[in-house]
Amino acid sequence: MELKEAIKNRRSVRKFKDVAIPKEKIVELLNLSMWAPSGMNRQNWYFVVVKGETKGKLIEVSKRAFNEFISKSLKEVFKDREEVIKESERFFETLGNAPLVICVYRTRTIEGELTDIQSVAAAIENLLLLLYEEGLGGCWMTGPVHLPNDLNKILGVEDKKLQALIPVGVPDVTPFIPKRKEGRIEWIGWD
Ligand SMILES: Cc1cc2nc3c(=O)[nH]c(=O)nc-3n(C[C@H](O)[C@H](O)[C@H](O)COP(=O)(O)O)c2cc1C
Repeated sequence: MELKEAIKNRRSVRKFKDVAIPKEKIVELLNLSMWAPSGMNRQNWYFVVVKGETKGKLIEVSKRAFNEFISKSLKEVFKDREEVIKESERFFETLGNAPLVICVYRTRTIEGELTDIQSVAAAIENLLLLLYEEGLGGCWMTGPVHLPNDLNKILGVEDKKLQALIPVGVPDVTPFIPKRKEGRIEWIGWD
């Protein structure tokens, strides 16, 4: 697959088929994701890949994060679009029935938070593009991270900062394509 095609057609997937993904496939894709650039080459990413009962516990926290943090702002932004709110609620309550969830952490480095977060974000985007290339899908989620302590406790992680959850699986939807906004590039000194 061409890189340009993957960049343009990757979508956030929020509903998955009941199909297991082999561990070896996830290992392969995570190893490739980690070829991302990172500030001072710290490679400060850390992934916890979850399925089974522990995944169920993550979903409980995701539900609570929706009710306590997400629902209020969704209702403001999508005042007249009840279906968007309902769909989002359903996603947070199920994580789209994904067979696995990748919890993405960053370790703190002396480069500071700005650099630490961007390095890990680069690896996340790599992962999403790789999933798409494999016919898989995922959704980059920070919503549940409103409750980091609850998630860390479930995952047994104490010394790292949780950055995102990514439910992963075989897509069971053709996602809506959100338009890209105009006017996001400025040119200086080009005339
Ligand atoms: C940092 C970040 C956080 C996000 N958090 C959530 C989330 O909590 N829940 C969700 O449904 N989507 C989340 N998304 C996905 C965006 O809603 C999605 O990328 C955007 O609507 C564009 O759609 P596309 O990915 O299909 O192009 C997040 C994306 C990013 C980059």
